[in-house]
Amino acid sequence: MTTDNFTPIAEIPGTQQPASHEFLRAMPKAELHLHIDGALSPQLMFDLAARNKILLPYQDVAEIEKAYQFSDLQSFLDLYYQGAGVLQTEQDFYDLTWDYCEHCRADNILHTEISFDPQTHTERGIDFDIVIKGTLRALDDAKAEWGLSYALMLNMLRHLSAEKAMQTLQQALPWRDRICSIGLDSSELDHPPVKFEKVFAKAKEYGFKLVAHAGEEGPPEYIWQALNILKVDRIDHGVRADEDPALLDYLVKQQIALTVCPLSNVRLCVYEHMQQHNIMTLLEKGIKVTVNSDDPTYFGGYLNDNFVALAEAFELTQAQALRLAFNSFDASFISDSEKHLFFKKLADFATQFNAQTD
Ligand code: HPA
Ligand code: ZN
Repeated sequence: MTTDNFTPIAEIPGTQQPASHEFLRAMPKAELHLHIDGALSPQLMFDLAARNKILLPYQDVAEIEKAYQFSDLQSFLDLYYQGAGVLQTEQDFYDLTWDYCEHCRADNILHTEISFDPQTHTERGIDFDIVIKGTLRALDDAKAEWGLSYALMLNMLRHLSAEKAMQTLQQALPWRDRICSIGLDSSELDHPPVKFEKVFAKAKEYGFKLVAHAGEEGPPEYIWQALNILKVDRIDHGVRADEDPALLDYLVKQQIALTVCPLSNVRLCVYEHMQQHNIMTLLEKGIKVTVNSDDPTYFGGYLNDNFVALAEAFELTQAQALRLAFNSFDASFISDSEKHLFFKKLADFATQFNAQTD
């Protein structure tokens, strides 16, 4: 897929105007980096804790929100794994996923590639099948109800062993036709991609697409490893690529997409302020960056909130916002013909939006 398809959108009159909140909300978009356990709202956490008779270390929703002050990735992951403990039954996974799907509808996300971490649950005795069945049932209902397009991605926890990841890969095989990719998340520092070389080689043999978190907190070397050793199709985060000019050149030449998560990076102190974020610089350099929410209920916003935060920090034009949305469809794992349908929707949206507001 070449980005030439974008030219008609760039030529639409009015796209040098600022992207208003209404423009950003109504703009068709895809989300490619979303941890479903990171979409557990404080309210649902309380409801599920009550349903499953689990005692939470919080008195109320306000107390949870107060606890969500993070100094780095690990300080977040500690609360994220603790929160996931309220998820016990297939219905719990359904409710969690359904909640996120409703946000897709509100944010005009037409296609989502959500990831789940089965080991977060199997390690505490919940069956793999309970997790995936509840998750898929919600996604299928959203597809039937309003046509949400989706793909399901499986992430391995990199703080656990490669042997455990290999076992998880075997557990996923009966679901091979429902899972599009294998990825890598959790604590990045001290767990370089190379640790999972054999797992990813096997996953490739089975025909999965491959992704990995790299260059969120870890050095550019981890991005190189993900590309050269794991042979991933795209990189989650990857913002630290900007420390290595040869890597930036490679990402541009190979058109490797980065699924960037602006609010997440600020909340986890990768950047002190949104104005310091490099996403717009990477976009200008020709890197295929996309905007994503990562763990929306922990980081203070769903996908549109991320677009709005960028618009406020960088005075986004409509053309820039459209380019980011175009990239989100272009970098997805859907077929070229499906991509073209979404590109057309994007172009039609921009034309109609500007015709109405002229
Ligand atoms: N980074 C790494 N692992 C994760 C994240 C993240 O932002 N969210 C959930 N698991
Ligand atoms: Zn992530």
